Amino acid sequence: MREQDLRELLRSMSLEEKVGQMVQVTGAFLEEDAVITGPAADAGLTADDCRLAGSILGIAGAKRLREIQDRYMEAHPHHIPLLMMADVIHGYKTEFPIPLALGASFRPEAVERAMGMAAAEAASAGLHVTFSPMTDLVRDPRWGRVLESFGESPWLDARMAEAYIRGYQGEDNDLAVPGRIAACDKHFVGYGAPVAGREYNHSELSEHTIREYYLPPKIAAIQAGTACVMPAFQSLNGIPCTAYGKIQRDLLRGDLGFEGVTISDWSAVGELVAQGVAEDAREAAKLAIQAGVDIDMMSVCYARNLKDLVESGEVEERLVDEAVWRILTLKNRLGLFEDPYHGSSPEAERRTVLCREHREAAREMVADSLILLKNEGVLPLNPEKKTAFIGPYVDSRDTCGSWAIFQDRADTVTLREGVTECGLGENAEFFQGCQVLENTRVLGFGVEEVFGEPENREELLREAVEAARRADTVVLALGEHTLQSGEASSRGEIVIPAHQMELLRRVAAVNPRVVTVVYAGRPLDLREVERYSAAILVPFLPGTMGGAGIADVLYGRRSPGGRVSMSFPWGTGQIPVYHNDYSTGRPYDPAGAEQKFVSRYLDIPNEPLYPFGFGLTYGSFTYSPVRLSGDEMGAGETLTASVTVTNTGAMEATEKVQLYLRDEKATTVRPRRELKGMKALRLKPGESREAVFAVTEEMLKIWDREGRFLAEPGAFTVYIGPDSRTENGAGFRYR
Ligand code: GLC
Repeated sequence: MREQDLRELLRSMSLEEKVGQMVQVTGAFLEEDAVITGPAADAGLTADDCRLAGSILGIAGAKRLREIQDRYMEAHPHHIPLLMMADVIHGYKTEFPIPLALGASFRPEAVERAMGMAAAEAASAGLHVTFSPMTDLVRDPRWGRVLESFGESPWLDARMAEAYIRGYQGEDNDLAVPGRIAACDKHFVGYGAPVAGREYNHSELSEHTIREYYLPPKIAAIQAGTACVMPAFQSLNGIPCTAYGKIQRDLLRGDLGFEGVTISDWSAVGELVAQGVAEDAREAAKLAIQAGVDIDMMSVCYARNLKDLVESGEVEERLVDEAVWRILTLKNRLGLFEDPYHGSSPEAERRTVLCREHREAAREMVADSLILLKNEGVLPLNPEKKTAFIGPYVDSRDTCGSWAIFQDRADTVTLREGVTECGLGENAEFFQGCQVLENTRVLGFGVEEVFGEPENREELLREAVEAARRADTVVLALGEHTLQSGEASSRGEIVIPAHQMELLRRVAAVNPRVVTVVYAGRPLDLREVERYSAAILVPFLPGTMGGAGIADVLYGRRSPGGRVSMSFPWGTGQIPVYHNDYSTGRPYDPAGAEQKFVSRYLDIPNEPLYPFGFGLTYGSFTYSPVRLSGDEMGAGETLTASVTVTNTGAMEATEKVQLYLRDEKATTVRPRRELKGMKALRLKPGESREAVFAVTEEMLKIWDREGRFLAEPGAFTVYIGPDSRTENGAGFRYR
């Protein structure tokens, strides 16, 4: 529609009709089997509220959504099309590995391609907007939603945010192109830092920390053109983000120039009452619209109160008009006034969903994101020798994560199927060994699972141990339950369930050649796994093609490509631990003499069990010293930093060469290391290649004491190596 016609449409709408565009309801109000992704309590919305709603969430399917669109547009006074939104977080029906694993791939270009496929599937099924990417930087694996994050590095998170947005919206952000969906970057801001790692808890972050760590991925998403932004549930420094005008209007729209639609989180407007900043739904609506929330997701506040607030003069109608203009503009950018179905159809759905190309891409992503943490001569497996596959994840299809809300479990490839379908099962045996959980109840979006103790518990254990005894190598598939991570799934102890660890100990006692494959939605405490395993693989939650991708790596068809995207702590007591932490006035040098008055613990190390950037491959790589094109650079200038990497191993593999920067002295304390670049080099045995990086002035910029973003003169060190602990560095000065 032409802009002038859109303006005319807005002018022709009544206040009630305008407020309706700002209301989002779950599809459950239209259909019985929608996916409820928030408190399922009756939000108190009525059919009339739904009649004028501007958007719905939580249901998909071309036929269903076309029928709903037809009914809605027919009944609507101006026949304005609905926006169809949902959580497509790492795939629609073809689930890719969870975002924490996608971050671990260190391959933004592969992630962009994967999200393009996710968009094509979701769009063919009638969806217009996805509540993704989640670009919340994370440091606390007790928090269940680290599974949705790309990890602890602002740089890596920013590259992944860009990849997601380009994948969903296309390089040119032309949303009207069929097969694309609008992105919604979330959550704005600091949701990934809940105090004590407890879900929905408040976050306390200085402005300096927000700008240094938590904003860069969001700025990247905005600069990449995200169509929407979702303010976060939690309060930030005492003010709920949903009601925080300074971060929504001043920072998000003012400083960062975001012009798209803001949509609250589920019932977050109504929850301002429980947060104690609103007397009632009416005051909550007033606070939210004044702070800048355009769409009220699943609360009654706007539907019940906004019209009256405007008519009473408490809220300027201008604020409603601005919000509705942004919503109508998004619908127009999607081309919905010309094609309310946005190119979706049952035929397009059948052609696109779970197609071979998508499955193959998902399978490759598993190998690219899977992290090999340890390998003492047992991997890759020899298919000629007997391998016992043991554990509750051998035959589990629950390996896609809690956000796989549209995926059919039956489509997931189990580890057993991955092995046998590779034609590698001839010398493999498969045993459950134990259940994933015992005496536990887990809840997810509309899902409840209750676990007791299996009657044949001892039998399962005994036959597994016997199989381990007679095997050449054991592959143990263990992990936390898929519903022990994700939203509303914080854990105080981040460990593999105790009865599974008992299985590991019993198996390792009869066969030391144990490969432990760890399924999890977060970095777990793997100290005991490390003690009893000769090799450790972490696929996290690998998605639809998990079993096939893991089998490819186990048998050496592909080399593992993952690198730690979020540090694995040396136990819960060490949390938060992350590579880009500040030094202190009394740094602890573990190699130094015994020191008392230094920054350390008495009973545990400072360093994580597995640090950011770490990951083994089936190759073996050496690095030359870092070469710099000069020993100083000035404003607007660039240095190049390079190394020569050689694969001295016996197998072809890809090395994820990482560039870290350290600002040796500045007006504010600086991180010991900051990831600022990465290059993937695929090298054959014996092959050498140069990795060349540009060191730019932009990379040197920091937020100084006056809140300015600039590069300060002084000494810097560039490190280039296989992970964040590398000491392979060279110094230069910025003058
Ligand atoms: C959930 C999540 C948010 C999601 C929304 C809609 O509570 O916090 O990330 O997009 O509700 O499902």
